[in-house]
Amino acid sequence: MLLEVSELFVSYAEHEIVRNVNLSLDEGEVLAIVGESGSGKTTVVRAILGCLPHEGRVNGGRILFEGKNLLENTPEEWCRLCGTKVAMVFQESGSMLDPIQCIGQQFVEYICEHSPMTKREAAEAAKGMLRKMHLPNPENIMKSYPFELSGGMRQRVGVALAMFFRPRLLLADEPTSALDVTTQAQVVKEMMEICRQDKTAIILVTHNIGVAAYMSDMLLVMREGQIVEAGRTDDVIAQAKSAYTKELLDAVPQVGGKRYVG
Ligand SMILES: Nc1ncnc2c1ncn2[C@@H]1O[C@H](COP(=O)(O)OP(=O)(O)OP(=O)(O)O)[C@@H](O)[C@H]1O
Ligand SMILES: [Mg+2]
Repeated sequence: MLLEVSELFVSYAEHEIVRNVNLSLDEGEVLAIVGESGSGKTTVVRAILGCLPHEGRVNGGRILFEGKNLLENTPEEWCRLCGTKVAMVFQESGSMLDPIQCIGQQFVEYICEHSPMTKREAAEAAKGMLRKMHLPNPENIMKSYPFELSGGMRQRVGVALAMFFRPRLLLADEPTSALDVTTQAQVVKEMMEICRQDKTAIILVTHNIGVAAYMSDMLLVMREGQIVEAGRTDDVIAQAKSAYTKELLDAVPQVGGKRYVG
């Protein structure tokens, strides 16, 4: 098992937010987490990545990654893991980019920080990765500043950066919800393609149970900090147990007796 989270409890200051979350993920598998706003999805993802906000605390549980409990990691161990073995893409990944540096400079710096590549090698490799994310004319993108790109292009650059070191696990928190619907579908598909090639496992957080159903092998539904439903996606869709999941599914349009997703 690549990742095994068991009996995870997380609180912000006095408030216990996430209660008894269990999940596991094998190499190359896609797990989607859905649930209403405030249900604790981001909190779970941040706990796994070891980047809870200041007042956030893990109060119990284990997060085993490749058999090692991440909760026992030193800050140096976290640093080594993040960006290389575990990577993250979130809603505003594009806005993480430095506005006053061109894309190429940022990408090359990022690569050189984490690897012994020369600048020239890094620039070539970066262009290759941009091409993989279907960005037209990578040469030009490298010379552009973030504000010169569309939201979809910036988000593709964010994914290209996150996927560069072929992480074993990608945490994608609403990676496309700032984009229009058509671009959303494209960017998610491109991201999944790269992950499939590299056998990267994904935890995809989304509001949209339709997208989740279409993309994932396993589905986890959260409500008020707890898991209300978990299982193989097909099973959950075919026979949801909780009333809440049924409610979410009923909101997905159906076409000709077939649930219309993606
Ligand atoms: N830094 C924080 N300090 C205190 N409470 C927080 C903090 N971040 C989140 N919370 C609270 O924790 C709960 C879960 O938040 P979280 O961001 O994990 O939800 P979410 O499922 O990701 O929601 P959304 O779909 O809106 O992104 C919410 O009640 C929220 O108010
Ligand atoms: Mg969130």
